[in-house]
Amino acid sequence: MKTVSKIIGIAGISILASAGCHSRIRHTKEPEETLKNIFHNDFLIGTALSSDQIEGKDKVAAYIAARQFSAITAENSMKAEHIHPRWGEYKFELADRYVDFGQKHAMYIVGHTLIWHSQLPSFVSKIRSVDSLNKYMEQHIVSVAGHFVGKVKSWDVVNEALNEDGTYRNSIFYRTLGEDYIIRAFKLTEKAAPGTALYYNDYNIERPKKRTGVLKIIKKLKAAGARIDGIGIQGHWNIHDLPLEDIEQSIIAYANAGVKVAITELDISVLPNPWNLQGADVNQNFENSWVMNPYADGLPDSVSGKLTNCYVQLFRLLLKHKDKISRVTFWGVDDRQSWLNDWPIKGRTNYPLLFDRNGIPKDAFHKIIQLKKQQNF
Ligand code: G3I
Repeated sequence: MKTVSKIIGIAGISILASAGCHSRIRHTKEPEETLKNIFHNDFLIGTALSSDQIEGKDKVAAYIAARQFSAITAENSMKAEHIHPRWGEYKFELADRYVDFGQKHAMYIVGHTLIWHSQLPSFVSKIRSVDSLNKYMEQHIVSVAGHFVGKVKSWDVVNEALNEDGTYRNSIFYRTLGEDYIIRAFKLTEKAAPGTALYYNDYNIERPKKRTGVLKIIKKLKAAGARIDGIGIQGHWNIHDLPLEDIEQSIIAYANAGVKVAITELDISVLPNPWNLQGADVNQNFENSWVMNPYADGLPDSVSGKLTNCYVQLFRLLLKHKDKISRVTFWGVDDRQSWLNDWPIKGRTNYPLLFDRNGIPKDAFHKIIQLKKQQNF
């Protein structure tokens, strides 16, 4: 108990002690600074919340989320397979708890995601007719966006609709309905949830070819009289290849196209990627490989230093363009939660976030706070 109180202060003691989570937090003090305070005048700073965090099973991460972040995104609980498992049947319980968490802590609540080819309920994958798929889209958006109206402040309306070369992904939506399904999705969401910010969200869209595809979508939506407020650059990056120039060019290009930019799923992997994969195509999965898991027992200082350096360079760039950026959201609170422990190879030990497996802030956390203080942007 003594150690815990040193770390989290009086406010957190009862939460953590009752959760029996002493073993996850040790040997360090809780930082005085918080990300949400330090970046308060720059952009919202967010995290994805897992089901365990929403349900109160991971109290350490939930505590850190509430203390450090001003925005939340549902990592999985608002996806169609969870929230709309059978035709006309909705399961809002977990997503409602996610929204309660955000409201309780006065956070900006993001909805993720309405129309995505992945994590679809099985009944949707079986749909073949244009009429039925149109009906699904309408019912899904009206029911889900409608349920959270006034509570969810921003929706990732369409997720990952593009291929790497900027052409449309051959998803069930594109195959069946053609490219205008995107316009319809934005118009339906605007109607179901007026006043909510509407975003197109995708990975690798800082890269020039894919960026061209996004710019076409923005133009098309605007020409069709649909509202789009922003572009979500997911930001699944790697310490070996952080594309700073492309990121800057994209922030400028999207802002020039008249929309805000959010970094929506930020993490920086430290592990080798033997297949030279980029981004986050969740269809790619590989068998476990010990050789590909070099830091299972801890991260060497040299690699940790690279990670810190990447985060500092990235935040320097984001602060430079803060007038164009609405939000920067990390894809998880701590390294234990990260999807990158299981992709593209299951069961690895990755270190992509600002808080380690015990919920301790890393050097990268301290250095981006220092950057902000020193440069006083
Ligand atoms: O819920 C089941 C659980 O019942 C079961 O015991 C367990 C066994 O593996 O699996 C659980 O489901 C997993 C789910 O995460 C919840 O943990 C799925 O297998 C797993 O595939 C799923 O992964 C999520 C992935 O999206 C699915 O597409 C990741 O957590 C989530 O971080 C990831 O997030 C996506 C964004 O939505 C879109 N952009 C890319 C990003 C990373 O892939």
